[in-house]
Amino acid sequence: MLFKSLSVAVVLSLATSVLSHYTFPALLVNGVNTGDWVNVRRTNNFNSNAPVTDVRSQDFRCYNTQTNARASTATVSAGSTIGFQANQAVYHPGVINVYMAKAPNGDAASFDGSGNVWFKVYQMTATANGQTITFPSSSLTSVNFQIPRNLPSGQYLVRIEQIALHSASSFGGAQFYISCAQINVTNGGNGTPGPLVAIPGVYTGNEPGILLNIYYPIPQTYIQPGPAVWSG
Ligand SMILES: *[C@@H]1O[C@H](CO)[C@@H](O)[C@H](O)[C@H]1NC(C)=O
Repeated sequence: MLFKSLSVAVVLSLATSVLSHYTFPALLVNGVNTGDWVNVRRTNNFNSNAPVTDVRSQDFRCYNTQTNARASTATVSAGSTIGFQANQAVYHPGVINVYMAKAPNGDAASFDGSGNVWFKVYQMTATANGQTITFPSSSLTSVNFQIPRNLPSGQYLVRIEQIALHSASSFGGAQFYISCAQINVTNGGNGTPGPLVAIPGVYTGNEPGILLNIYYPIPQTYIQPGPAVWSG
């Protein structure tokens, strides 16, 4: 009897975590969904939906060390709007960053994203006003942003992270939901994207926007992790 109720509890808690976790399996190009794991490298958690919590791990980059997945590369114009579709609404309160990295050999499919190559193109932060803190990414099913018009043409990895902060009050408690897409940017400009960071490497896990209690006391400010957005 005890055993039976324990198994029910385990099954229920597994079901709850699959339901409360999520992935970003599809690229959106000008609002059009290009399909699950077509232009996005299939992540290790494509079944479990489980997050990455070690910001120093290799999985912190594209979360595909087990699948070793590569994707097809979508061609998009600089200045157009792209995004990521979630497999279910973003459940946990948190913030979003999107980074890009140019494939040095001109081929996103064979690029592993190593080196000091990533710059931030978009962020959705939290808003604290002294009394409350709100998380605009909560409940979203997709995240859209513009490819900077000045971005040089070429092939890039595009990496989204949603940083879930509900259990971020102890080290390693923040949950990262990560995907990498491959794009081929045409009609680009002459900008010089930066600052450039390495992923992993960009965070230690001790940042005030990663290691914090969002419930008590309510944070008076929120500091978005990572470098400034490069907007071209
Ligand atoms: C990238 O775009 C260029 C220019 O349109 C095209 O010639 C090339 O075939 C594209 N590469 C891929 C992988 O789609």
